[in-house]
Amino acid sequence: MKKWSLNSWRNYPAKHIPEYPDKKELDMVLGKLKSFPPLVFAGETRHLKQQLADVVEGKAFLLQGGDCAESFAEFHPDNIRDTFKVMLQMSLVLTYSASLPVVKLGRIAGQFSKPRSSPIEIKDGKKLPTYLGDNINGIEFTEKARIPDPKRLFKAYSQSASTLNLIRAFSHGGFADLQKVHTWNLGFIKKSQQDKKFKDLEDKIADALAFIEACGINSEFNRRLKTVNFWTSHEALLLPFEESMTRVDSTTGEYHDTSAHFVWIGDRTRQLDGAHVEYCRGIENPIGIKCGPTSKPEEIVKICNRINPKNEKGKIALISRFGHDNVGKFLPKLIRAIKKEGLNIVWSCDPMHGNTIKSATGFKTRPFNNVVREVKNVFAVHQSEGSFAGGLHIEMTGQDVTECTGGAQKISEKDLSHRYHTHCDPRLNASQALELAFLISDEIKKNSQYSKNNIKAAS
Ligand code: PEP
Ligand code: CO
Repeated sequence: MKKWSLNSWRNYPAKHIPEYPDKKELDMVLGKLKSFPPLVFAGETRHLKQQLADVVEGKAFLLQGGDCAESFAEFHPDNIRDTFKVMLQMSLVLTYSASLPVVKLGRIAGQFSKPRSSPIEIKDGKKLPTYLGDNINGIEFTEKARIPDPKRLFKAYSQSASTLNLIRAFSHGGFADLQKVHTWNLGFIKKSQQDKKFKDLEDKIADALAFIEACGINSEFNRRLKTVNFWTSHEALLLPFEESMTRVDSTTGEYHDTSAHFVWIGDRTRQLDGAHVEYCRGIENPIGIKCGPTSKPEEIVKICNRINPKNEKGKIALISRFGHDNVGKFLPKLIRAIKKEGLNIVWSCDPMHGNTIKSATGFKTRPFNNVVREVKNVFAVHQSEGSFAGGLHIEMTGQDVTECTGGAQKISEKDLSHRYHTHCDPRLNASQALELAFLISDEIKKNSQYSKNNIKAAS
């Protein structure tokens, strides 16, 4: 292997990275970003990796969720708070019902760039370059908006920094205190089936808290009852930006991508000899690798070995996204190839990206039933292969959107137009996300693989 350096990825073929017309301006922006403060710190990234090592062993569950694409237009404290609330609710359902600590990882504070299936968008006979994410170009259907503009990276950096700032405040400032669990519910899911189930859970937790408080343990002197760790992640697609945020950790001399705690390589950019794998093999962050129907098990094994030659636990998450009816065809072979090599893997399931369809009304959507089917099929395959379905990777929001059909609210194809706000793929709304969490906790309870011993509390 040639030696890795911060920009060695530039010597490899790179897919889905835009051509900026003004290279000088791009270099100026990247140069400035290099001098900006890191968004996350190396010690935090190491902490997340330790938590993920527990997921590898079936002692914790990974919950990764957030927007498909964050946008400048939807940037609002209430949206951040509501996504945070749903993630907390889902985690609580999983922790309480399945007795597993949950590693909470947002697709947030930097999830902007998108790989697109076509470089061209055609509307009413007019052809324009595709929208690539708010940190690259604009979603408006005009020639000007679609030109990649390097200055958008400043706005994205600033939005990520303030999003992360609010998340840190929520996580450690009292909002996540278990005593406040009743304040996490979102107005629009009140009166729903999910809400009733969650209320029951709140009551049980209140009882448990009253009991431990009577034993002298309360959130005043047990930090874990009132704070959570909430980590950030995004697809490491736009490598010039990731490079500019990659810094040497002064305590170890290692490189960390300081734009997020965790980054992943998408299904379209995971070529073994491509730029994205090359970049990711040099950084210390935990790395996700999306595995779709076109992934070959032997190639995934090689990618894992290249990124994680020491087989460090918690370093690699394979995120399967085969589509509900394809799980049985592809996942067992992948699991067997990984097992044969003895690789340490977090097995996560993305039930979104293999189940996208176009509705008769013209919207990109995902039937909730198919999302559920993929999750159930993934659990069944892991159970029969003797491995742990260790995580869930979803596109969701705390807003009351109508983007995915089905669920307890019975969203129909006709309803999609009511509140369809996503900048890219359709997201589960809070009610659908919570429904999924209840379902997964049932699957975990059914699954004998999870370790009920030596479980460390989520920290
Ligand atoms: C995504 O996670 O938004 C995405 C594009 O996924 P994939 O690479 O799996 O298609
Ligand atoms: Co998506």
